[in-house]
Amino acid sequence: MSRIVHVNGTYVPEEEARVSVFDRGFLMADGVYEVTSVLGGKLVDFPGHLARLRRSLAELDMASPATDDDLLAIHRELVARNGITDGMVYLQVTRGAPPDRDFAYPNPPVPPTLVLFTQSKPGLADSPMAKTGMTVVSIPDQRWARRDIKTVQLLYPSMGKMMAKAQGADDAWMVEDGVVTEGTSNNAYIVKGNAIITRDLGPHILSGITRAAVLRFARESQMQVEERPFTIEEALTADEAFVTSATTFVMPVVRLDGQPIGAGRPGPVAARLREIYLEESRKAAV
Ligand code: PDD
Repeated sequence: MSRIVHVNGTYVPEEEARVSVFDRGFLMADGVYEVTSVLGGKLVDFPGHLARLRRSLAELDMASPATDDDLLAIHRELVARNGITDGMVYLQVTRGAPPDRDFAYPNPPVPPTLVLFTQSKPGLADSPMAKTGMTVVSIPDQRWARRDIKTVQLLYPSMGKMMAKAQGADDAWMVEDGVVTEGTSNNAYIVKGNAIITRDLGPHILSGITRAAVLRFARESQMQVEERPFTIEEALTADEAFVTSATTFVMPVVRLDGQPIGAGRPGPVAARLREIYLEESRKAAV
């Protein structure tokens, strides 16, 4: 059975889905996206993803493709039609397809393009990597300066993953002005004693929906949260490290640039936060 995807108000088998070659998402990376995970057939942190989508659209003066209720209904319909128990829903909105290629935004505006599809990942929450931890290398952050907008400009993060792979690592942490910004597709953290340290919010990083929830749970569990820059050197002397994202939840990092972090094994703080995050997310999923 082929996957059913959503394109501009219609549900079609993936082979039949069509977007114009003049679509600005395709030609200019003029589009934004969200990835929402699905656990037990339900959407995790959906209101957060919706709120961030609204903000990304507003920052780029891009028209809304649908109401919040419609977007929730489309997510649910795709999960149901594709029989997704664990996995994710990818949503992309672009500025649409004008009649010709032009750097200027179309005037009058054309309807935005809305595309959603599912990815099935049975056992997503039981990833073996959560037990072994992942390895990262540091690379320069060469992305544009508005990383707070979740755009589909993902070439540098893709290059970063390839740089990591070339060094035998799982992912890369990006460094700018001597301090870590974030992972290629996740937020980065170190743990020192009772303190969890992660980059403060601003245009230099994406405001992770998982980050917000994990920091809230950490504070509720009487852990100390420090939102501030940290260096690779500081990370190498940390007790633990981890990353967060909608697709990895809380994932321990055990090596950085070939050197072990702490004991070189997943630490108790990351394990505990993962447990709390998964438990609370399942309860609040819609
Ligand atoms: N990436 N930072 C970057 C650069 C990201 O691309 C992501 C998410 C995050 C974490 O955000 P959240 O917790 O809201 O998923 C941080 C998604 C998963 C992706 O591109 O597939």
